[in-house]
Amino acid sequence: MFFASDNTGPVHPKIMQALADANTGYAMPYGADPIMEQVTTRIRDLFESPDAAVYLVSTGTAANSLILATLANPYDTIFCSPVAHIHEDECNAPEFFSGGAKLTLVGSDNAKIGPKQLKTAIEGEETRGVHGPQRGPVSITIVTERGTVYTLAEIQAITKIAKSYGLSTHLDGARFANAIVTLGCTPAEMTWKSGIDAVSFGCTKNGCMGVEAVIFFDPKHAWEFELRRKRGAHLPSKNRFLAAQMLAYLADDLWLENARAANAATARLTRGLKQTQNTSFMFEPEANIIFGGWSRAGHQRLQGAGAQYYLWDGALDGDDPTEVLNARLVCDWSASDENIDRFLALIKG
Ligand SMILES: Cc1ncc(COP(=O)(O)O)c(C=O)c1O
Repeated sequence: MFFASDNTGPVHPKIMQALADANTGYAMPYGADPIMEQVTTRIRDLFESPDAAVYLVSTGTAANSLILATLANPYDTIFCSPVAHIHEDECNAPEFFSGGAKLTLVGSDNAKIGPKQLKTAIEGEETRGVHGPQRGPVSITIVTERGTVYTLAEIQAITKIAKSYGLSTHLDGARFANAIVTLGCTPAEMTWKSGIDAVSFGCTKNGCMGVEAVIFFDPKHAWEFELRRKRGAHLPSKNRFLAAQMLAYLADDLWLENARAANAATARLTRGLKQTQNTSFMFEPEANIIFGGWSRAGHQRLQGAGAQYYLWDGALDGDDPTEVLNARLVCDWSASDENIDRFLALIKG
């Protein structure tokens, strides 16, 4: 019963097979391998963007922070949600890689940036001449850090405001595939057709071993990104093994198959929780993350049985067994109905 994160799960067998298949003979390093050429073509086709600049890195933090470093000057500020991964969970990597850009936090409901709040935040910057930060890119996380998903209209509202100030836009797609399954749209519709300039296309959480794509729809960013990636120590010499994962991930829609499985598992867990007395939800689960609460006694039974997930608030060993404590649960592609049903049975007691 592993619901701590979608990167606790196994690598999909097809990805492992692709790694084994790539492990024959020799290939040119640093992205000059033939598999990378196929990946670039495949991603350009998938995103309906024939000129897109495509790169691979091994972590989402590298993808996010190197993209933002490319889009932001050191004296800029990057607009993001207060719960954005780039703010809370990247140890200041965007600030580090950009050489000093800061983050301006833009709040709203459901862990999303609100258009009105964004406009106010943008207006609030560049008011102090040379003394203050300049306006920089806007970054949103498509499956937010609280499990909600931006609709296309919401993305467009954000990017329209950014564009009206001449600002570029970044999409943290650590759970890109899960969002596509939720929204039922195409990758192009969710990104450049909705005004997004650059994407961190996450794959590790959805069945890969460790690979994320960086996509710039305007290739003018290509060379600067390449220099920043190398200088930032994220140019993989044996790139073919990242490329092999990516190619297998996109072949036969494995990326969608895995995300459908993860989202369906989450929906099953959510339905079961909703049928349990005294369960509450901090946010409506819209992809593969749940923020929900149930009794301390239920948590104690679960943790005693070895269930893995993050307790979001409260202490497991308090006095009142009926007190509701919130938790974060995440399902990956491999979550089984059997484990979900066992988890639910333990909560019910
Ligand atoms: C929203 C979001 N962005 C990016 C990442 C990528 O992080 P990592 O550097 O651990 O691959 C994560 C992983 O937890 C995430 O949840």
